[in-house]
Amino acid sequence: MNYYDNNIIKYIDASIVLNPFFDEWYRIVEDILRNPEFQKRKLFMHHHNITVWDHSILVSFKAFMASKYFKADKRVCAIAGLLHDFYSQAWISTPELEKLENGKYTTLMKEKKPWYKMHGFTHAKDASINYVKYFPKLEDKKITNAILRHMFPLNIIPPRYKEGLIITTVDKLSSVRELPSITYVSKKVIHKTYAILSNVNRI
Ligand SMILES: [Fe+2]
Ligand SMILES: [Fe+2]
Repeated sequence: MNYYDNNIIKYIDASIVLNPFFDEWYRIVEDILRNPEFQKRKLFMHHHNITVWDHSILVSFKAFMASKYFKADKRVCAIAGLLHDFYSQAWISTPELEKLENGKYTTLMKEKKPWYKMHGFTHAKDASINYVKYFPKLEDKKITNAILRHMFPLNIIPPRYKEGLIITTVDKLSSVRELPSITYVSKKVIHKTYAILSNVNRI
């Protein structure tokens, strides 16, 4: 294990590190994992109990594994999986993130927005732009499309390529498993629906 950077490995779930295909996946995504901007995703919460860092690694690795079964492009799946939620603005506030660089990652979440500008509808486009900003050498039409369309069917246009269909499916399966209970989901859905309806009434 001397080959690996311990500062990265210790932040990856052991079940992934110990997988026989870990090395193949790691070689594809190592530069992204080392990137200082991507490292900040350890401070972004994806849901209340998991960070964007952990969620993105899980989606990337599972999509990479699925690519073998579906004969898809494993590099596209690994990279798009890792960057599909690489949005620039957080949707859950934490004290650490509010302090980071004068709160630049939490500014938009404090603004009142119409329902169609809420995180669920906008973050895929934000991530598809943000990934090119920080990783211009990785720009690729399949990666961009997979990131941009990963919120299908909430965003109504489906992914164009097989790799994008893998990302959106793995993302949903992972997100459901990350949620702690049906009670939590129910409360979230009720809360979000109420927020959306409140905003619709104001339009
Ligand atoms: Fe997402
Ligand atoms: Fe996601």
